[in-house]
Amino acid sequence: MTLAGNVAIVTGSGRGLGLAYAHELARQGAAVVINDVDEATAAEAVAGIEAAGGRATAVVAPVGPTETAKLLVDTAFDTYGRLDILVTNAGVLRDTVLWKMSDDDFDTVINVHLRGTFTCVREAATRMREQGEGGRIICIGSPTGQRGNFGQTNYAAAKAGIVGMVRTWALELKRAGITANAVIPVAATAMTATVPYFHAAMEADAQGDPMPDFFRHTLGFGTAADVAPLIAYLASDAAAEVTGQAIGVGGDRLQLWSHPEPVVSAYQAGGWTPEALAAEFPTAVGGAPQSVGEQFPPLPDELQPPQA
Ligand SMILES: NC(=O)c1ccc[n+]([C@@H]2O[C@H](COP(=O)([O-])OP(=O)(O)OC[C@H]3O[C@@H](n4cnc5c(N)ncnc54)[C@H](O)[C@@H]3O)[C@@H](O)[C@H]2O)c1
Repeated sequence: MTLAGNVAIVTGSGRGLGLAYAHELARQGAAVVINDVDEATAAEAVAGIEAAGGRATAVVAPVGPTETAKLLVDTAFDTYGRLDILVTNAGVLRDTVLWKMSDDDFDTVINVHLRGTFTCVREAATRMREQGEGGRIICIGSPTGQRGNFGQTNYAAAKAGIVGMVRTWALELKRAGITANAVIPVAATAMTATVPYFHAAMEADAQGDPMPDFFRHTLGFGTAADVAPLIAYLASDAAAEVTGQAIGVGGDRLQLWSHPEPVVSAYQAGGWTPEALAAEFPTAVGGAPQSVGEQFPPLPDELQPPQA
């Protein structure tokens, strides 16, 4: 596989998963536009890629506004002459339960993840269509967007919305040869560092030790570097026919997520009345309710976090 001659933008790529994606794309030969809000980490990311023999430049600006999207795409064209790959990865969390979530908590997360993905993809797809050589749009979702999660109203909305947009873009961009896919990652980063359940995995990662098999295999939880190859694959010619998919990856595990679809249909001539629903709902469609949230298996004793 090679991405030689390709140009990629990776948002939020100063650290964490975005940095791993940028490194892998550069290793495969793509020139990369690094983006972050933090100037020092963005500069460090560029230096790291250059030290490894790759090409990179940085745009320090917050993803969300259209101006940033334009700046990112203009930088790709002005610096490297083209654009082939966009990875929308920038993200923040403002977790709290619904009844404590402020307007600002909601708007901040929606602005970076959902609006940032929309504005960046709109700008990139517009310019890719003009360029006329196809392209790759890779948007980052989350298990929370797929299943819901306690304390993450804002994040669930944003991440579910991203996958919804991807399904639409796969339809709209097909004729232009531009694929649009969502990646649903799980990895040890600053974002997962505070979750007690992952303590033993984070500790192993911090010490440069391999993560226990329980995390890598059973949970599909590994390092940021474990997620990056899927990004490179989706960016390559090998994945030219893969579009409109939500693909999960973490540790040793690769998964294809289903899209929502009706699981049971029932019919009532003339339409459903409240009385008919009360009588028929349990047997007509209520027999197999869909579950919500992610169920984690109990941690083995030796992987329990230290008691506070
Ligand atoms: N770590 C996981 O297990 C996991 C799971 C599911 C989804 N994700 C998603 O993967 C992406 C990366 O997460 P991560 O774990 O590497 O987190 P991280 O916090 O380590 O990295 C996020 C990066 O985005 C940058 N950023 C924040 N707001 C920005 C903005 N407005 N514009 C540009 N950059 C901005 C941050 O400075 C940081 O460098 C996020 O979209 C996250 O929601 C992560």
